[in-house]
Amino acid sequence: MSILITQELVDQKYRLYHERINAALNTCFSTQKPDTLYEPARYILEGKGKRIRPFLTLLGSEAVSGSSENALNVALAVEILHNFTLIHDDIMDQAELRHGRPTVHREWNVNTAILTGDVMIAFAYELALRAEGTRHKELIHILNHANITICEGQALDMELEKKWDATIDDYLDMIAKKTGRLISAALEAGGVAGNGTPLQLQSLVTFGDKIGRAFQIQDDYLDIMAADGKSGKMAGGDIINGKKTYLLLRSLELTTGRDHELLQSIITNKGTSPEKVAEVKAIFERCGILEETADLINRTTEEALDALDALPYPEGREYLRGYANILMKRDF
Ligand code: IPE
Ligand code: IPE
Ligand code: MG
Ligand code: MG
Ligand code: MG
Repeated sequence: MSILITQELVDQKYRLYHERINAALNTCFSTQKPDTLYEPARYILEGKGKRIRPFLTLLGSEAVSGSSENALNVALAVEILHNFTLIHDDIMDQAELRHGRPTVHREWNVNTAILTGDVMIAFAYELALRAEGTRHKELIHILNHANITICEGQALDMELEKKWDATIDDYLDMIAKKTGRLISAALEAGGVAGNGTPLQLQSLVTFGDKIGRAFQIQDDYLDIMAADGKSGKMAGGDIINGKKTYLLLRSLELTTGRDHELLQSIITNKGTSPEKVAEVKAIFERCGILEETADLINRTTEEALDALDALPYPEGREYLRGYANILMKRDF
């Protein structure tokens, strides 16, 4: 059966679920003490997170069962796990801004940020244990596997900062781990909450791995190309930190002369000063990498959509398709 879910319908559902997720997140750390531990958790969760992963959890459940009634606690667990990774990622990246506000370690300090991250991850598992249904062991395993994989990805991310001969394959492997796995885990956990079969879970994971790859490439693109202030992060942070993004690695192959030398100097010096960001952006604008990146994101998303065919509920499946198309075009 084919069913038409317009972009507008996907937007509507996203807005509705976004509100529900936020309302539920607001209750998660509302009364606990001490404030020095929980206030930063409230702070990061009241920021303008897009709630992509919990939305995918709910849609994943709907695609296998027609309902997301049993998936809310799992969706919250995934989002809290994600926000824990953001707090620790900002320490590692020495990032000053997140959601347009000071990062947790800047607003408080590094020790506080570490500890709040720790309590958030523990709480995420607690929520997964409170999920409706009987498949808790699987849910915990999925979250744990995602968590372990993110740590591996973040370690590779740090290694790549220092590596002078990093390849695009190194980059793709690293982003599959630091970003792709949590996105596929969000969908997989939604599939478990909806009591999906192993085959259905596998389709959700394949879809998630691919949109996760497209998502991180887009994140790298927006790091330098997002309109002023729109990303809520410091523009060009990846360039300053010498991150080996797809944009940087592939531009090295596309440029010659002075442009190539400037890009190469970022690799040699393991980063650059904020003053150089505009120059790098201008190189990206003229060397063809922006078109290539958009192409890669489109192709990867198209590949992701093929995996959806195995999912039994046409409406849920079409919402996943529609949302993947929206994510591909996101500008923040
Ligand atoms: C940021 O994820 C971290 C990455 C994996 C790129 P999001 O862009 O989904 O962050 P929030 O949740 O909207 O803040
Ligand atoms: C994020 O990668 C990966 C994790 C949070 C695990 P980035 O470092 O690119 O994410 P942003 O750009 O800071 O959100
Ligand atoms: Mg970062
Ligand atoms: Mg990072
Ligand atoms: Mg980034």
